[in-house]
Amino acid sequence: MAIYIDDVSRTFGEYLFIPGLTTKQCIPSNVSLTTPLVKYKTADKESALKLNIPFVSAIMQSVSGPELAIELARNGGLSFIFASQSIDMQAEMVRKVKKFKAGFVISDSNLKPDSTLQNVIDLVNKTGHSTIGVTHNGAPNGKLLGLITNRDYRPEKDALDKKVEEFMTPFASLITGKLGITLTDANQIIWDNKLNTLPIIDQNNNLVYFVFRKDYDNHRENPNELSGKDKTLLVGAGINTRDYRERVPALVEAGVDVLCIDSSDGYSEWQRETIAWVKKNCENIPVGAGNIVDKEGFDFLANAGADFIKVGIGGGSICITREQKGIGRGQATSLIDVAKARNEYLKSTGYYIPICSDGGLVHDYHMVLALAMGADFLMMGRYFARFDESPTQKLRIGNNYVKEYWGEGSNRAQNWQRYDNGGAESLKFEEGVDSYVPYAGKLKDNLDITLSKIKATMCSCGALTIDELQRNAKINLVSSTSIVEGGAHDVILKEKG
Ligand code: IMP
Repeated sequence: MAIYIDDVSRTFGEYLFIPGLTTKQCIPSNVSLTTPLVKYKTADKESALKLNIPFVSAIMQSVSGPELAIELARNGGLSFIFASQSIDMQAEMVRKVKKFKAGFVISDSNLKPDSTLQNVIDLVNKTGHSTIGVTHNGAPNGKLLGLITNRDYRPEKDALDKKVEEFMTPFASLITGKLGITLTDANQIIWDNKLNTLPIIDQNNNLVYFVFRKDYDNHRENPNELSGKDKTLLVGAGINTRDYRERVPALVEAGVDVLCIDSSDGYSEWQRETIAWVKKNCENIPVGAGNIVDKEGFDFLANAGADFIKVGIGGGSICITREQKGIGRGQATSLIDVAKARNEYLKSTGYYIPICSDGGLVHDYHMVLALAMGADFLMMGRYFARFDESPTQKLRIGNNYVKEYWGEGSNRAQNWQRYDNGGAESLKFEEGVDSYVPYAGKLKDNLDITLSKIKATMCSCGALTIDELQRNAKINLVSSTSIVEGGAHDVILKEKG
């Protein structure tokens, strides 16, 4: 006979906090959101890898590209670069994040000396950037031969077949900085020489970076920045249970800090084999696994050696797994169950395995609930897809701006590996939709608001750390009638603006 679980599975919108004592120390500026990312022995006191804010971005084409990874790490969180692409492309994205130095930009607009003015115009239209590096081979790191800005040509007067070398500022007339220069010194040169752009070159005169005058204010020190000992930003990458023997070494070579197996159903022998392979062949690279929704799934992946475990099936905003396969569980119940299993595992082994709540977080208070219910950190797709830094197009629909957001199990992502059972057959049906999300502007502006709300709720609960929140929060199930009571009701709302 089948096993029946009688308790209803529930989600975040069905719970509310009851305030705890807010002491005088309990003010948002005293709240720490630092949280462990990977497994550790409690005798060692803390995790070898920690996040400064409990946010990671989803392993999705429409979310976690290098630009978002850089901005999120600069603000204390971490991205997992998506795995549904070629190994080379994914490794290149990881490399881009690892190479990032605040204020030092790898040139994305480059031409050769024998390119034409028409090529310049086309490139400026394509990238929207007016500074072009002229290198011997037209590559971002080729030998620097000159620089072009929009002051060097007049499209309406000059011949379109005029060669770049005829109107560029040649290398001999350029002021450059040497690789290794600090941002402060680079800015001093910019200031002293009234420049807009300072090319940074290596000892062979190869172009390495540009430093732009206009970026100065954006690149002051960021206290939350998530970086390693070598000062590079931390970055994660998704992997699958098929090509890991080739993919993982390429990612490690590119400098990845942490891996995560990306699958909608992680309770599988494929995941156990993948973890074992990574542990044997790349022992210093932590690997997370998932997704699971109950104790059995957690114990299986914990015993397989996972460094963190992701919780959640079917709750993602673009997810139709529950409709298509009838698999899933309310996210709050999944988390409560798995957190209990994690604590039992800790008691019996002395190892703390962080858990990640993945998918379905809508309101900022849902994030606090997920943390209070035992999540160490939160994976979000929709939340990050709305920002400038996500890799998708911003479009205007009617009077509103939106960004595209599609599931990894949608036809569009064609990420076959994630959604089949590991065998040779490819996907026959979709588990995700292709959608839009409202455009919300810059990541940092939105994150600042979300984090202040999270800290304010934690202060109301009397908690200064995530650990205190997990130990002391009082959480109450609410009836559907009291959910109605929670919004504005029985008033006539004034129209905004
Ligand atoms: P969101 O934050 O609610 O948008 O959920 C994001 C999460 O949904 C991801 O981290 C994945 O776990 C999950 N997900 C991504 N793509 C799909 C899909 O196509 N079908 C089902 N779940 C998906």
